Amino acid sequence: MKKEKYNVAVVGATGAVGEEMRHVLQERVFPVGELRLLASERSAGRTLQFRNKEIRVDVLGEDSFKGIDLALFSAGGSVSAKFAPLAVNARAVVVDNTACFRMEPDIPLVVPEVNPQEIGRYKDRGIIANPNCSTIQMVVALKPIHDAARIKRVVVSTYQSVSGAGRMAMEELSHQVSALFNGKEIEKQKFPHQIAFNCIPHIDVFLDGGYTKEEMKMINETRKILGEPSLRMTATTVRVPVFCGHSESVNIETEKKLTAKDVRAILREAPGILICDEPEKNNYPMPIDAVGKDATLVGRIREDDSVPNGINLWVVADNLRKGAALNAVQIAEVLIRDYI
Ligand code: A2P
Repeated sequence: MKKEKYNVAVVGATGAVGEEMRHVLQERVFPVGELRLLASERSAGRTLQFRNKEIRVDVLGEDSFKGIDLALFSAGGSVSAKFAPLAVNARAVVVDNTACFRMEPDIPLVVPEVNPQEIGRYKDRGIIANPNCSTIQMVVALKPIHDAARIKRVVVSTYQSVSGAGRMAMEELSHQVSALFNGKEIEKQKFPHQIAFNCIPHIDVFLDGGYTKEEMKMINETRKILGEPSLRMTATTVRVPVFCGHSESVNIETEKKLTAKDVRAILREAPGILICDEPEKNNYPMPIDAVGKDATLVGRIREDDSVPNGINLWVVADNLRKGAALNAVQIAEVLIRDYI
């Protein structure tokens, strides 16, 4: 029998994504019974607001999931590796926002606008993985184009905001800006170089072959979500001094010819997309416009004449929202509608 309310745990509740999870659950009137906010010992005793009530933050522990129906994890891969299985043992379904389980074959990796049919496979392990923020917004735009004309190759370059690296990274940018204006030394912790007034072509660690882990996440996750294991794709991921909102230049080659007009018509009908493409009015997607919005914004739609069937897109979304918290809550909405 269907429940009227679900007990929800947010692991990493004090972080940038955890905060957005609370907002999204509240805004979308998710049927929350108890909301259990979990974080590290550093946050013990803090309270956070949900539906006009102050809720105490608990320290994450092995017994944290008793009575929980749904656990949303966003506290880093090592926390998920240890505690997601404990949550499953306590009969919760886990939606995990870290990279910990994404590429495991028996764990579905889901963007509800793209592959909602995968959600039912949560039954194997009790876990659904939320993709990387840069992957999510890109596949929302790729999927309808792939369905219409079969994508053969993708070249993506990202311009990723600091919030993707967490709350401390946002503080680092803000402190560096203020230090530089006041003639003081900057402090670096989260980024290997000064991020204020800079661009750093390095997100996550470097792997053999010269790619970063973030770049390989985008490639491998896109292949898994689209169900195209041999899709030709390359990525360059760059951190930029923007607080929130990731932007991407996406170059696509398709099997069938699509004009820019065709692509506009396809994307206009696609779920989760808002077209902002009136260059004559200086209207194109920008992070400052995407923040706080659910939609993935797409603009600068044009044909790439350097190849037979090429299309260029500029894709922007709120990385904490569609790139993380909103996508997780959308998955949870399908879970409670169809499965739990
Ligand atoms: P805390 O605030 O207590 O450190 P962000 O990605 O914005 O940095 O946030 C990370 C989130 O994950 C925070 O809520 C943080 O809690 C939480 N977190 C980090 N490490 C642990 C841990 N070992 N156990 C529980 N929560 C953790």
